[in-house]
Amino acid sequence: MKRKLFLPVYAFFLFGCNQQTGSSRELALSNKIDSLQKTIDNAYKPGLGEFMNGVQLHHEKLWLAGKNGNWKLADFEVNEMKEVLADIRTYCRDRPEIRFLNMIDPALDSLNQSIQDKNNLSFKNNFTNLTHTCNSCHQATKHGFNLVRIPQTSDFSDQDFKPQ
Ligand code: HEC
Repeated sequence: MKRKLFLPVYAFFLFGCNQQTGSSRELALSNKIDSLQKTIDNAYKPGLGEFMNGVQLHHEKLWLAGKNGNWKLADFEVNEMKEVLADIRTYCRDRPEIRFLNMIDPALDSLNQSIQDKNNLSFKNNFTNLTHTCNSCHQATKHGFNLVRIPQTSDFSDQDFKPQ
């Protein structure tokens, strides 16, 4: 008889305690989430234009490598450009223009094939095609004033593009 009476009281006491620690833990967690959100909001995130500067750099280096028949370097540069494009897909989701980004993939794949084949003539043709694709996307995204062309000289006098 005695036991029957004590159990609900004990349970009520336990439940009450639990609720209190539960809500203070929730508060601590929600404060932590708020402060993490602030950290994320203030974290540095490059814009699309900054990523495009990276694309431009690899575009030029890719040309200089291929022109010099430096296929190892050309292979490296294609992959570097692909990494920047992957970053754009990850970090620039808020930019509607990136829905056009996929148009560059076939051009890059063909150029990659010329590099694997070590074929100078097809490299030049496919590089020209890649450059047209850059401009097609710039036009599609109303940035046609960013006109890309085949590099005329090297901007990297501190790098030797000839094969070793
Ligand atoms: C989504 C389609 C798209 C493709 C493909 C693309 N671009 Fe762009 N590019 C843009 C957009 C949009 C901007 C403007 C970004 C901004 O608002 O700052 C831009 C800007 C640029 C700029 C100007 C950056 C600056 O701040 O001065 C350069 C240079 C550039 N792109 C080079 C290239 C090259 C080289 C290629 C090809 C290898 C290429 N882009 C392919 C969309 C594209």
